Amino acid sequence: MNVQATLEISERISTISVSSTMKVAADADRLRREGVDVVDFGAGEPDFPTPDNIKQAAIAALAANFTKYTPAGGTQELKQAIVERHKLDFGTDYSAAECLVTVGGKHAIFNLTQALIDPGDEVIIPVPYWVTYKDVVSYAGGLCVFVDTDEANGFELTAAMLEPHLTGKTKLVIINSPNNPSGSVLSREEFLRIHELTSSRGVLLMTDECYCQFLYDDKPFSIASAPGAKEDVVVAGSLSKTYAMTGWRIGFALAPAPIVNAMNKLQSHSTSNPTSIAQKAAVEAMRGSQASVPVMLAEYRRRRDFVIDRLRQIPGVSIRVPKGAFYAYPNISVAYRGGQVKNSMEFSQKLLNEAHVAVVPGEAFGTNDHIRISYATSMHELERGLDRLHRFIEKVS
Ligand SMILES: Cc1ncc(COP(=O)(O)O)c(C=O)c1O
Repeated sequence: MNVQATLEISERISTISVSSTMKVAADADRLRREGVDVVDFGAGEPDFPTPDNIKQAAIAALAANFTKYTPAGGTQELKQAIVERHKLDFGTDYSAAECLVTVGGKHAIFNLTQALIDPGDEVIIPVPYWVTYKDVVSYAGGLCVFVDTDEANGFELTAAMLEPHLTGKTKLVIINSPNNPSGSVLSREEFLRIHELTSSRGVLLMTDECYCQFLYDDKPFSIASAPGAKEDVVVAGSLSKTYAMTGWRIGFALAPAPIVNAMNKLQSHSTSNPTSIAQKAAVEAMRGSQASVPVMLAEYRRRRDFVIDRLRQIPGVSIRVPKGAFYAYPNISVAYRGGQVKNSMEFSQKLLNEAHVAVVPGEAFGTNDHIRISYATSMHELERGLDRLHRFIEKVS
């Protein structure tokens, strides 16, 4: 029998698509292998090396043969270190039993959605959103309810925008501040209003704190520190960006113990523990010197200011100043006027193929008129790429 002919991919998998940020990276990589000089603004990853003290901790773990299975949900030592760091940074009060260590922040979000959502449950996702949310909700059989935000107001979500979308079926609201891709940051007051609202409706609030240390104006804040928030807030955390540790794959969840236990059950049958050596490195990241974080932030600020200045010089392009993370999300719809491109997907493809600059189209994040530029790259690359972008937009507009 021909296996290919009878092979049918599950309906569950058919509800999701390949991450478009990864697709951009693959297209850019293909061109590069063909010898093309590509400027890459696609990757959402720090260009800094992992700080040395963290690398040394991994080397010491190897030397000590810390190379075996650990408990599926992470070592007690790391869970303790994570809850202590969260307390120091944000004033929260979690115990190790309310912490799960995962294979990156994405894994925490995947486990959480699979552990919580039943078919038909509604999950509220503000637009623009990080690509993965909608796919993991769909994979669990949930219904994504998208809430538009206001570009003129820097894409900042408000409780008033959220309120009309809450129904009896709403199970979860997902908030990401600082936001990927827009760089918007919720004020403490608005975040508290949103939590009051979700709490009063018996709805869980997931706060994706992936960029929690990269704020340019405000002080880092976690809604999990609000009175009573531990009952109905789930933190999805990641070491990837804060400590330039994307490849190490360490993230975590902070949640009520029954949710942690449910996520742990799933994890015990899928990945099992995050890599033992990476866990030791993560303990050092949590407990060791934090000096690298403000250094990276200062450099991101310098680049952000440069990128915004350059984007503002391109006729017809508008850009709100990002208040956090390391992305700019300009409105490039002026380029549609010339008729050569009519949406951000076509714009990004043409930009890559003709001007050799990789960006992520806004469609990946739920808006049609934008592109995402990651400025987690060197000033030299930013200069070259923005020159090319400027010329390209003038040409097609
Ligand atoms: C908003 C947001 N959340 C979570 C993640 C997950 O990061 P990781 O799985 O590397 O910890 C990312 C990565 O780009 C992100 O941008």
